[in-house]
Amino acid sequence: MTENKFEFRIEPLGKAHDRAAFSCGIAALDNYLITQARQDVEKRVSAVFICTPDVRTVAGFYTLSQYSVNVGALPERVARKLPKYPEVPTSLLGRLAVSEQFRGQGLGEHLLIDALYRCLRQSKEIASAAVVVDAKDANAASFYQHYGFIGFPGIADRLFLPMKTIQAMFEGKQSQRR
Ligand SMILES: CC(C)(COP(=O)(O)OP(=O)(O)OC[C@H]1O[C@@H](n2cnc3c(N)ncnc32)[C@H](O)[C@@H]1OP(=O)(O)O)[C@@H](O)C(=O)NCCC(=O)NCCS
Repeated sequence: MTENKFEFRIEPLGKAHDRAAFSCGIAALDNYLITQARQDVEKRVSAVFICTPDVRTVAGFYTLSQYSVNVGALPERVARKLPKYPEVPTSLLGRLAVSEQFRGQGLGEHLLIDALYRCLRQSKEIASAAVVVDAKDANAASFYQHYGFIGFPGIADRLFLPMKTIQAMFEGKQSQRR
């Protein structure tokens, strides 16, 4: 098995991926991939991306969809910089998991960076003010906090990263002034 995370491709969920063998230790995430993910893709409610070293093995996955956030749910210092609309469009990174077999070699980061970059690219065609994540527990929340995600006040385990921050990560601060 390769140990270089960049040798793991990230591609849309397809028939060749062996979903049944996936195990990340959180039953809800395993069951989602095994029983629900294909239907969600077919019904266009989630886009599912698989991280694989060989086209078949599922080393990790994430899901993306569009999501509307009530501006009142955001921290005041963030909300006051937004236009006075009741809701803002965002991108929802609903699930992200790495198989227990592949933990601790940078694949969680590889998936997260891929998801953030995909959201940034999409936001240039269909606007999105932030990436929102649903962390399944405090441990998952701390993974996202490690990358600068900010908690929603009063909503346990829901966090966000402003798209401007993501743009600065990939394109540098200069590009924001264009
Ligand atoms: C959270 C998870 C995705 C991390 O995957 P991973 O491949 O083991 O993580 P990586 O090897 O890419 O770690 C990248 C960085 O994140 C850090 N990290 C990993 N898990 C972390 C956690 N729970 N809390 C804080 N930091 C964490 C690592 O220390 C590493 O930091 P460094 O680059 O500064 O050394 C994985 O443990 C997982 O799938 N857990 C179960 C499902 C889950 O909780 N999903 C998240 C939300 S639904």
